[in-house]
Amino acid sequence: GTPDSHVPRDPRLIRLTGVHPFNVEPPLTALYKEGFLTSPELFYVRNHGPVPEVHDEDIPTWELSIEGLVENPIVLNFREILQKYDQITAPITLVCAGNRRKEQNTVRKSKGFSWGPAGLSTALFTGPMMADLIRSAKPLLRAKYVCMEGADKLPNGFYGTSVKLNWAMDYNRGIMLAHKMNGESLRPDHGRPLRAVVPGQIGGRSVKWLKKLIITDAPSGNWYHINDNRVLPTTVTPEMAAEDKKWWTDERYAIYDLNVNSVAAFPEHEEVLDLASAGPTYTAKGYAYAGGGRRITRVEISLNKGKSWRLADIEYAEDKYREWEGNLFDGKVDMWKRETCFCWSFWSLDIPVPDLESSDALLVRAVDEALATQPRDMYWSVLGMMNNPWFRVTITKDR
Ligand code: MTE
Repeated sequence: GTPDSHVPRDPRLIRLTGVHPFNVEPPLTALYKEGFLTSPELFYVRNHGPVPEVHDEDIPTWELSIEGLVENPIVLNFREILQKYDQITAPITLVCAGNRRKEQNTVRKSKGFSWGPAGLSTALFTGPMMADLIRSAKPLLRAKYVCMEGADKLPNGFYGTSVKLNWAMDYNRGIMLAHKMNGESLRPDHGRPLRAVVPGQIGGRSVKWLKKLIITDAPSGNWYHINDNRVLPTTVTPEMAAEDKKWWTDERYAIYDLNVNSVAAFPEHEEVLDLASAGPTYTAKGYAYAGGGRRITRVEISLNKGKSWRLADIEYAEDKYREWEGNLFDGKVDMWKRETCFCWSFWSLDIPVPDLESSDALLVRAVDEALATQPRDMYWSVLGMMNNPWFRVTITKDR
């Protein structure tokens, strides 16, 4: 067995690396068909090493310490975190920065493994706002960052990274700790018993098996913060990156907010469309997301290599949770009223069958409220992250 033999897993998940560590994405169509919320057993997993083994009886005494540049360093246990702080429940989509990396690796091998287009999932996360916990420790004026440390034991220490303190203290950014997903206790792969959830940012900032919040005046020096989750300039070759540390320590190349992205789930890659029995129209469907809480404002489809575009319909499933009584954002956090988007949205477009019959490929691109969009051409980089050129799916016909 592997060091993870204590962890239950769903056989439908697609393995992206060898037997260990566990890195998986759900099949895209299965993910899409589940709808807005992903069930915990199909939720993508990105683990850098073994999953810490945490026994039920040890959870109430799981400790989180808040230390560093604070007036009042504290250690809170799991029970206190649940009892002393307001608990929020909110839908949040987590996306791995490596989502769609396979396309980069096809053009030129990057330093990461090949994620397809399903390196993302959505759940209702429950727990306290990170700001409330940090406030109890009274950060000093010169404090600028929150470093997070996980309990996993990795070749280069534990997994850790940081975000800006003012982001964590801003309720509207929704940065929280979670102990539940979709109403049930976190599963081992997703950080049981406690994790950070940083909405609108790459999944790599949402530290699992959370043990420490360290308030500092500089970004995290953790090996994984330096060597992971970056988009280096495209001119930097793997050789240059290996030779010179300066590419890795330059915080400008660290990535936080997700970029705009969209994918078609129907038609599927390699799916043979039975257009003869499709009726007058075929409905193309997929997902789109943006970063930093920004809303997707349009999704466009092209059947002629980008010469002209058609406007798809968008469904913002997240919006129905704004009126929902189970969340405490109402009143406490007005991001809810501001219509901040921390989740994926769904697009669909009815296409006349003859138009599909005369086309070789369907292209998708999305635009967000800042008018950021997806590039036509790929921006290749050493770690192959944030890949978001127009999504292309070949139209394979029945004849
Ligand atoms: N936290 C710890 N402690 N160890 C990890 O390996 N992986 C990160 C992040 N938090 C990681 C971690 C990365 S790169 C991603 S994309 C998300 O967790 C994945 O979260 P998930 O496995 O719950 O989907």
